[in-house]
Amino acid sequence: MPPSPYHNHSPRNSQTQTLTTRLKPLLILFTSIILLYFLLSHTHISQNSATTTTPYPLSTPTCIHHLVFGIASSSNSFPKRQSYINTWFHPNVTRGYVFLDENINTNNNNKKKFKSSIPRLISHDTSHFPYTFRGGLRSAIRVTRIVKEIVELNLPNVRWYVFGDDDTVFFTDNLVKTLSKYDHNKWYYIGSNSESFEQNSRYSFEMAFGGGGIVISYPLAKVLAKVLDSCLLRYAHLYGSDSRIFSCLAELGVVLSHEPGFHQVDIRGNLFGLLSSHPLAPLVSLHHLDSVEPIFPGMNRTQALEQLFSAVKVDPLRVLQQTVCYDHSKSLTISISWGYSVQVFEGNQLLPDLLPVQRTFLPWKRSLNVNSNPFTFNVKELSRDSCQKSAIFFLENISSKTNEIQSNYSRQLFKKCPQIGILKDLEQIRVLSPKLDLDASQFQAQRRHCCDVLSSFDKGMEIGIRPCGDEELIFMTP
Ligand SMILES: *[C@@H]1O[C@H](CO)[C@@H](O)[C@H](O)[C@H]1NC(C)=O
Ligand SMILES: *[C@@H]1O[C@H](CO)[C@@H](O)[C@H](O)[C@H]1NC(C)=O
Ligand SMILES: *[C@@H]1O[C@H](CO)[C@@H](O)[C@H](O)[C@H]1NC(C)=O
Ligand SMILES: *[C@@H]1O[C@H](CO)[C@@H](O)[C@H](O)[C@H]1NC(C)=O
Repeated sequence: MPPSPYHNHSPRNSQTQTLTTRLKPLLILFTSIILLYFLLSHTHISQNSATTTTPYPLSTPTCIHHLVFGIASSSNSFPKRQSYINTWFHPNVTRGYVFLDENINTNNNNKKKFKSSIPRLISHDTSHFPYTFRGGLRSAIRVTRIVKEIVELNLPNVRWYVFGDDDTVFFTDNLVKTLSKYDHNKWYYIGSNSESFEQNSRYSFEMAFGGGGIVISYPLAKVLAKVLDSCLLRYAHLYGSDSRIFSCLAELGVVLSHEPGFHQVDIRGNLFGLLSSHPLAPLVSLHHLDSVEPIFPGMNRTQALEQLFSAVKVDPLRVLQQTVCYDHSKSLTISISWGYSVQVFEGNQLLPDLLPVQRTFLPWKRSLNVNSNPFTFNVKELSRDSCQKSAIFFLENISSKTNEIQSNYSRQLFKKCPQIGILKDLEQIRVLSPKLDLDASQFQAQRRHCCDVLSSFDKGMEIGIRPCGDEELIFMTP
């Protein structure tokens, strides 16, 4: 019979006592061995936990099931925008609700049209709250109260509440990864401000803009839900729901944790510049896709989003991550925005010159002087010559085998530009990359990856992405 700690509980009689006396030396030896074993195994365990530093060893890793989404919509906009929600919200995987002002009449004729993935809830009546912003929309109050109404559902096992609009597209794997940096047991308010200097000046540089998404940790959301109605009375003069949430959180003494992967997209026109030099952080959200051109040329908005998602499905963390390498023999600079585009420039472009956002888009406010710089990031003006010395390739397709992912990018040709020089014949770029998998410490302090031109073929080249060497620098080696 194996020794068990419960032996002490067994009744003793004289026989067993004599037995124990005889066995005493053995028992002592045995206990010492057990003690030694526990001591050793204990040091072993503590060594283990010291090497694999997880920030919160007491809780399991955060996963999609720990998030609850509260999406703001209306009976008017939902039918037009539910396809955005359907791209990222998956029943039985994603948890959350879309909040409408009133029921949508789904009779048998149009039932098919409302085969949406997200369950619908009708917001409570908010007509008794004051709203005094001239020319604003009092639905801002209803949308603010989504915070309270969703918390009061008392759903189990929630770590984070995530709020967005019906035209916000979330990249949920990256959202989960980003939130895993934070301790959900503490008070956190996470998101990003606007790309528009003017919008940030008017509202706040320290406000999470609602369309880009607002994330609030569970304990903070609980408290916010309790006090929210009193804030709604004090901030009747504000325009939107995000300024109401911001103001109430400010009164609670909480400030924003900025995450550059959330995108309010307060710009118009062509998003190419923004998407081809994304910050070194996972893409978490995109908003206002109705107000910009389809993100891939020659496609409608739905198709273009699906095209991006074909890359998101294969390697979410790497999507839009910028990698730069050089072909010295041909004097070419290659800038990859993985899963989206590749640009090939003639000549040597220094890395820092490839990081500013190419200004392919217009300010949100149509009245702003187009020559001012109304953005909150570094921009680079496009050359006046519309046939610039760069070739642009867009994601064509993607496939993955075990740990190697191949993505192909094909040339977008501009009809009016005569093709000359070394870029003339380039038609396709093939990119090989391992799946981007960062552990907690690598994720905390990210480093851009490196790439190499592996081979040139008839009408293109093949490029491999890999982690950079310890002292490796990204420049055109002579
Ligand atoms: C979700 O789960 C329920 C219950 O397990 C099941 O009936 C339903 O078919 C599932 N839906 C999807 C889309 O998988
Ligand atoms: C976009 O294109 C696809 C495929 O051609 C088509 O099925 C879909 O109806 C189009 N969507 C819109 C909104 O035009
Ligand atoms: C890649 O795209 C081309 C054209 O869009 C298509 O004909 C081909 O079947 C695709 N290949 C794969 C592997 O999906
Ligand atoms: C990329 O293109 C090459 C040649 O055009 C083809 O053999 C390969 O299957 C393509 N890869 C994907 C993922 O479509």
